[in-house]
Amino acid sequence: MKVLVATEKPFAAVAVEGIKKEIEGAGNELVLLEKYTDVAQLLDAVKDADAMIVRSDKVTPAVLDAAKNLKIVVRAGAGYDSIDTAYAKEKGVIVENTPGQNSNAVAELVFGLMVYAVRNFYNGKAGTELMGKKLGILAFGNVGRNVARVAKGFGMDVYAYDAFCPKEVIEEAGVKAVDSQEELFKNCDVVSLHIPATPETKQSINYNLVNMMKKGGMVVNTARKEVINEPELIKLMEERTDLKYITDIKPDADEEFAKFEGRYFSTPKKMGAQTAEANINAGIAAAKQINAYFKDGCTKFQVNK
Ligand code: 3PG
Repeated sequence: MKVLVATEKPFAAVAVEGIKKEIEGAGNELVLLEKYTDVAQLLDAVKDADAMIVRSDKVTPAVLDAAKNLKIVVRAGAGYDSIDTAYAKEKGVIVENTPGQNSNAVAELVFGLMVYAVRNFYNGKAGTELMGKKLGILAFGNVGRNVARVAKGFGMDVYAYDAFCPKEVIEEAGVKAVDSQEELFKNCDVVSLHIPATPETKQSINYNLVNMMKKGGMVVNTARKEVINEPELIKLMEERTDLKYITDIKPDADEEFAKFEGRYFSTPKKMGAQTAEANINAGIAAAKQINAYFKDGCTKFQVNK
């Protein structure tokens, strides 16, 4: 079977080696398409692929239509909002993700961003510490749980809200569970977003919600840009000069946010999962899932059932 690894943002070389070993070790063939700049390159590469491993690469109806032999797409990562899962289902293509495999990397970046922000982007002026501050974790999935673990090491007071996770599970992890996202924003000095981009969450981080934060509040986004209502957040940050927005996903309105000097920062390119370890974990998990599908028909991680 031909397995295409299509990554506009490539995996670390050591992860590609591991994926190759895994795929070829099972008697399958690996084809690499990295750093493509035009969707035409992807459309051409998928033509004869039986399986595909992607990151945030957009798997649109056009890609699925071009991929005549495609049986399975594995998103090496957590969020699969970049894949048209419904259209894939219509075409009989299985879509899977690799939950948890890159979550520590994303969680570590949350703290890199937080320290950078509370120390005034290392401009030499006195900043603040994280110890004793209230951290709100919005969604207690794999990344949220890792953020909670690290936050305790920093001596932060950790709160979480998750619409789908029972409060007991949050409390068992030694984290204070609150009843709503409003309560989280009201209570906490920093809110770290870990919600997926779904029809329910898109633009849900809006003026009213963020305005509930105390003076000096900060929102850290390592989730998706789509969950932010950008025009409303810009309006709020114009009115409240105490608020900070720190993100790993460049907003569409990056230039407008950039005017909030000292209160806004975006990484140039989403890099939460950009570590060798996360690439190895997620990439090899994806390769193993593809091998298991071709060998035994295993679809344990299917997200478009
Ligand atoms: C994910 O959903 O797994 C993370 O956002 C990482 O995405 P990436 O593989 O595009 O860096």
